[in-house]
Parts: sequence; structure tokens; C-alpha cells
Amino acid sequence: MYTSKITGLGYYVPENVVTNDDLSKLMDTNDAWIQERTGIKERRHIKKGDGNSTSKMGVKAAKIALERAGITKDDIDMIVFATLSPDMYFPGGGVEVQEMMEMRTIPALDVRNQCSGFVYALSVADQYIKTGMCKNVLVIGAENHSGGLDFTTRGRSVSVIFGDGAGAAVVSRGDAEGSGILSTHLHSEGQYKNELALQGPSTEYWVPQIIEDDPQENIPYYPYMNGQFVFKHAIVRFSEVIKEGLDANNLKVADIDMLIPHQANLRISQFIQQKLGLGDDQVFNNIQKYGNTTAASIPIALTEAWEAGKIKKGDLVVLAAFGSGFTWGSAIIRW
Ligand code: UT7
Repeated sequence: MYTSKITGLGYYVPENVVTNDDLSKLMDTNDAWIQERTGIKERRHIKKGDGNSTSKMGVKAAKIALERAGITKDDIDMIVFATLSPDMYFPGGGVEVQEMMEMRTIPALDVRNQCSGFVYALSVADQYIKTGMCKNVLVIGAENHSGGLDFTTRGRSVSVIFGDGAGAAVVSRGDAEGSGILSTHLHSEGQYKNELALQGPSTEYWVPQIIEDDPQENIPYYPYMNGQFVFKHAIVRFSEVIKEGLDANNLKVADIDMLIPHQANLRISQFIQQKLGLGDDQVFNNIQKYGNTTAASIPIALTEAWEAGKIKKGDLVVLAAFGSGFTWGSAIIRW
């Protein structure tokens, strides 16, 4: 078995900043509610004509990650692309990245695991590297949420939370035992699939049916979230899967140098921090600036933490995510 490690990180967010006050002009909401319930101050939204899309933002993040890894696009053996908001229904974002970056005819795999998409994608990359199938895998998490949210009062409990952006990591064959990605831990519980979902258009609910039904009454083309229900499950699963990862490596919570939780809600991150007894310098949050960017949230936060010098060689870095599906997971990394 080989070892695998993250050798390059990058992120990209659209320039267009949307504050809570901006949203309060579109719907019945306010800065105090949003900050108190979620911690979010602003987020980035793609602006029509700014040249961004889910895949295009993914490419921008990927180019930075590649440069930092010190390799070129021709060294990449596989693309794993995580998103819930692809540019097209099919094919996926992975092939768009392959095309835009003019890469070889390498495999391009799309991962559809929503908020835990990046951890799932990283786990796939990890397996391909450890078995020797690939030497370098490009992992991308990217989302264009603003293209599909209900910006009226009807959708306010969801639409104030989400933002656009992309993050990328190059995962490469490692050189030392006991360092790099030590393990990944993935879970799902499909019985809760409807608690956080976008129903259609889908093969079960295709466009003519949506048009035939009263679009004012039934809005399956906007995401639905049972917020409190998701919140309650999130705080349990986050803690569980972090501990599961630590146990698998004979590590303790006190060994964590940096926890990067999926940026779902600042209150969720703070709850986990408190439950695990971690200090402020052991947890990184940036939801205040970007909102919840789903599959992009961990690679954006990981990149920012690394850029700020908060992650150093030898540090124990833990990634953890929970979201729609439900799906959740963690990655334990010795940097
Ligand atoms: O990333 C994937 C996983 N996602 C999560 O983990 C999200 C988990 N859930 C949450 O983060 C929170 O449940 C929310 C932020 C979504 C909502 O916060 P909450 O404290 O659970 O609020 P709530 O849904 O119970 O709503 C409380 C009140 C309601 O009014 P009434 O019924 O008490 O009169 C809502 O209608 O707040 C109202 N409300 C709003 N008010 C102002 C809902 N959205 C808004 C809004 N602005 N944007």
C-alpha cells in the first residue's frame, strides 16, 4: 500500500459580495436574524455575465492547487468533482474540467454527496492513490447555489444560508508512512433523504409535471430543508465521525491541531467545538464570509487556514462533514 497526501490547495469565490442587508431588500429577513441563527455576515454570488459557473470556478481553484503542488495538468491521473449544483443535469462537472483544462483523457468522476461531497471525493482519491492506481488526483468541490435558490420570503430559511464558490486539492502519492491522509470514514442514512432535498426536475418529477402542477403551491425545483431536524442530527453525527476517525488511528481529541468542519452553520461548529472541548485555535470557521458553500466549504476553509499559516507540517488536521442524504464523513490527516 502507498500513502497519500494533499500537496496543493486552492480556492476561488466570485467577486460579488451579497450582505445580509442586500438579502433583506429581496425578502422578509434581517441581518440580526441571520447572524444570530447562522453566524453568516455575507456570501458570494455569481453575477450574470461574470464568466463563472460551477465548473469554471472549479477550474480556477484547481489551477491554483496545481501550481502550489508544483505539478502540471498533464501529471493528473484522475479528476473527482463534487457538487450538487452542476452546470448541466448530465454530463457532470468532471468532464467539463477535463475539457477546460485541456487535460489528457483521464477518468473524470462526479460525486453527489452534497455537504459531505468533498470528504467523499477525498476518500475516493485516497483509495486510488493508496492502491497505486493513480499518482496524482485532482479533487474539486464547487457550487453555484445562487442559480437555484428562492430569493423570496417563501425560501428565506434556506436561501440566506448558501453561497457560491469552489475549492480544490491535489492528492498525490506520499513519501512517508504515518503521514498524509491517515484514514477516511464515510456514512449514510437514506431514510432522511427528504429532510434536505431538491426534488425536481428529476426522472420522478420531470418538467411537464412541474408545469402542470400549480407552481405557486408546489415548488420542487427549490431546495427544501427541515432546518431544526438537520441541525439535531448534524451535531450528533459530526462528533461521532470525528471520534471514529481518531479512534481508528489511536488518537485523542487533544491531539487535534486543526478541525475544519463543513461550514453548515457557525452554531453547529461552535457546538461541536464545545462538545469536544477544543480551543478557538483548534477550529477554523469562515462561514461568516462565504455562507454555506456545500461541497466547496471544506476545501475553501482548508485553503484559507493553510494560507494563514494555521496548518503546519506535522499537524493533525481533521475534516468533518454532514449534510443531505443524510451523508457524513471525516478525514484524519497528518500534514
Ligand atoms: O449544510 C448542510 C446541513 N445543513 C445544516 O446543518 C443546517 C441546519 N439547520 C440550521 O442551520 C438552522 O435550523 C437554520 C439556520 C436553517 C434555521 O434556524 P432555526 O434557529 O432552526 O430557525 P427556525 O427554522 O426554527 O425558524 C425560526 C423562525 C421561524 O418563525 P416563527 O415560526 O418562529 O414565527 C421562521 O419562519 O425564524 C423564521 N425564519 C426567518 N426569519 C428571518 C426562517 N428563516 C428566516 C430568515 N429571516 N431568513
